Amino acid sequence: MCQNHGVAYIKPGVVEVQSIEYPKLAIGDRMCHHGVILQIVSTNICGSDQHMVRGRTTAPAGLVLGHEITGLVIEAGRDVEFVKVGDLVSVPFNIACGRCRNCKVGQTGICLNVNPARPGAAYGYVDMGGWVGGQAEYVMVPYADFNLLKFPDKDQAMAKIRDLTLLSDIFPTGYHGAVTAGVGPGSIVYVAGAGPVGLACAASCHLLGAAVVIVGDMIPERLEQAKSFGCEIVDLRKDTPLADQIAAIIGVPEVDCAVDCVGFEARGHGSDAGTERPATVLNAIMSVTRAGGALGIPGLYVTGDPGAADDAAKEGSLSIRIGLGWAKSHSFYTGQCPVMKYHRQLMNAILYDKIQIAKAVNVEVISLDKAPKGYQDFDKGAAKKFVIDPHGMIPN
Ligand SMILES: NC(=O)c1ccc[n+]([C@@H]2O[C@H](COP(=O)([O-])OP(=O)(O)OC[C@H]3O[C@@H](n4cnc5c(N)ncnc54)[C@H](O)[C@@H]3O)[C@@H](O)[C@H]2O)c1
Ligand SMILES: [Zn+2]
Ligand SMILES: [Zn+2]
Repeated sequence: MCQNHGVAYIKPGVVEVQSIEYPKLAIGDRMCHHGVILQIVSTNICGSDQHMVRGRTTAPAGLVLGHEITGLVIEAGRDVEFVKVGDLVSVPFNIACGRCRNCKVGQTGICLNVNPARPGAAYGYVDMGGWVGGQAEYVMVPYADFNLLKFPDKDQAMAKIRDLTLLSDIFPTGYHGAVTAGVGPGSIVYVAGAGPVGLACAASCHLLGAAVVIVGDMIPERLEQAKSFGCEIVDLRKDTPLADQIAAIIGVPEVDCAVDCVGFEARGHGSDAGTERPATVLNAIMSVTRAGGALGIPGLYVTGDPGAADDAAKEGSLSIRIGLGWAKSHSFYTGQCPVMKYHRQLMNAILYDKIQIAKAVNVEVISLDKAPKGYQDFDKGAAKKFVIDPHGMIPN
């Protein structure tokens, strides 16, 4: 019997590496002939995992975490026709059937057939269909022909694996935030949040031709990281309002478009920078974006937050100044990133050296047994994206 180990959520603030079941080509007691088993080459810790680990969701104890997966196909089900054993593949964090009306139009983040509770599923995530996570040695991926992206050359891919590992989530997610905010050549953009998604979004804005990318956060090391690849920065701990800090950079207090890479655990600005204010980013991006601009909102908002400060926020109701957005004819774009819409193009941007995404988000590779420490350091605000290497396969 093959062994498997994975990172399990135990209780708020605690994750543990445990012995877990080796995956089967099965969904419950039904065979999963369209699935594959992967030996995981790299699997990343995400800010989305932190919402669960901080106790801000209804994630059950024992949930095996991990939705950012890259791996080698070691077993393929009977009905897998095009993916082959031995292929090195990137797994979109969204699980999608490829057959429902949403998948057919590329909306793989809200597939209708992979989660009985609601549209959309992911590996190792609360309310996302109960699929086993991939911060592990091995994982099962269903609908493999539809979901997987094969890297064209394994040796070339292993040489760039620190970049390619980001295709399962944060690179497409940051890029999607920029695309849905309407970023293009010459745009002036405000990106809220300098975590891995914010940094990936800022690098994507450059890839799309933005003229100025202004990144805001309250963690100095993360802002320095944004500066290291050419972003302007605003320190939200300062008492100077965001609009005035923007005006000090570009001469006017307004940007063309903005992206929320923070979500519902947002903190306030200035003297409130240490206090949670869940609607801050949504209200801030409406106030600094020009009339007619678009707002990309990949930052996560939940339908239930047991740790929220008030009863309304406990069910995901926030105090958003929607009248302001309405008056400015803003467009809002929310939801899971449909990774598959972008991952092939972004893979090529990596393979042909059009972007240094691992450098932008400051990837650090760790072993599986160091995952709990990685979670702690990330929670403390390390300016890093932790990539777990469960089999010691990633070259130095
Ligand atoms: N839509 C999707 O498909 C998708 C995919 C991946 C991640 N996400 C979400 O994107 C968000 C960011 O992910 P991450 O991994 O970068 O998380 P993270 O927690 O590392 O980063 C969030 C950053 O926002 C900063 N911040 C807090 N309040 C702020 C404010 N008012 N203004 C500006 N910055 C502020 C924090 O200091 C932190 O650096 C999370 O909510 C995550 O769940 C969404
Ligand atoms: Zn993620
Ligand atoms: Zn579907």
